[in-house]
Amino acid sequence: MEVIVVERPEDAAPIVADAYSRLLAAKPDAVLGLATGSTPLGVYDELVRRYEAGELTFASARAFLLDEYVGLPADHPERYRAFIERVFTGRVDLRPDAVQGPDGLAEDLSAAGVAYDAAIREAGGIDLQILGIGADGHLAFNMPMSSLTGRTRLKTLTPKTRLDNARFFDDDLDQVPRHCLTQGLGTIMESRHAVMLGFGLNKAQAVRECVEGAVSARWPASVLQLHPHATVVVDAEAASQLTFREYYRTTYDGKPDWQGI
Ligand code: F6R
Repeated sequence: MEVIVVERPEDAAPIVADAYSRLLAAKPDAVLGLATGSTPLGVYDELVRRYEAGELTFASARAFLLDEYVGLPADHPERYRAFIERVFTGRVDLRPDAVQGPDGLAEDLSAAGVAYDAAIREAGGIDLQILGIGADGHLAFNMPMSSLTGRTRLKTLTPKTRLDNARFFDDDLDQVPRHCLTQGLGTIMESRHAVMLGFGLNKAQAVRECVEGAVSARWPASVLQLHPHATVVVDAEAASQLTFREYYRTTYDGKPDWQGI
């Protein structure tokens, strides 16, 4: 696991965007794994900037979302499929039919989870998966005590998550879905490169536990310690509880530019 400590969240965007640029230059039809939430927005903005500057094209790429609410109507603005289109995929030249998310409107949700993992496999697997860490260490909707080897499946949202997300539903808890389909930690672990971002003091404990603590379902993102190519990019606040943060800084500063992440 490579840990990169930057000063501010905006310093992370070019580092992560460089990973996309390198990947797409080598493999224009790469398969991208996309997260929603606020953490990756700076990276998406930087990718859009590079696309608009003619430095990057996604025309042959494909993308898979991490998760989706169950039961929100197809035209609901808070569906993750709609969210990602607003903040990223609709702003670059990714073909709309090249972007997929778990089918939260499927009649058979278990079968939809299995079909989603199969679709990722058929696409050749995810080359670059971007992730945001939750304050309790969750990854996608794999909350504490989720299986470390789970596949895409139906999960029940915790009361805390529903409360946190009520802000996107007119602060009306009744409107917040109770269930979701989420890639499992096992699915996420099959990505060829996993890049997890964490910003702000409220992520500091989770970053400490997941990066330097024991691998445990108690802190789901700790499973990335077992990933053969995981990169964690955190700002100074999120890194504030890391014992080895100076070591991470020195190591990254001494890395040759051509190596990338
Ligand atoms: C997003 C997702 C979530 C978020 C996490 C952090 O698709 O599955 O795990 O990455 O909740 O959320 P933010 O980035 O809003 O702090």
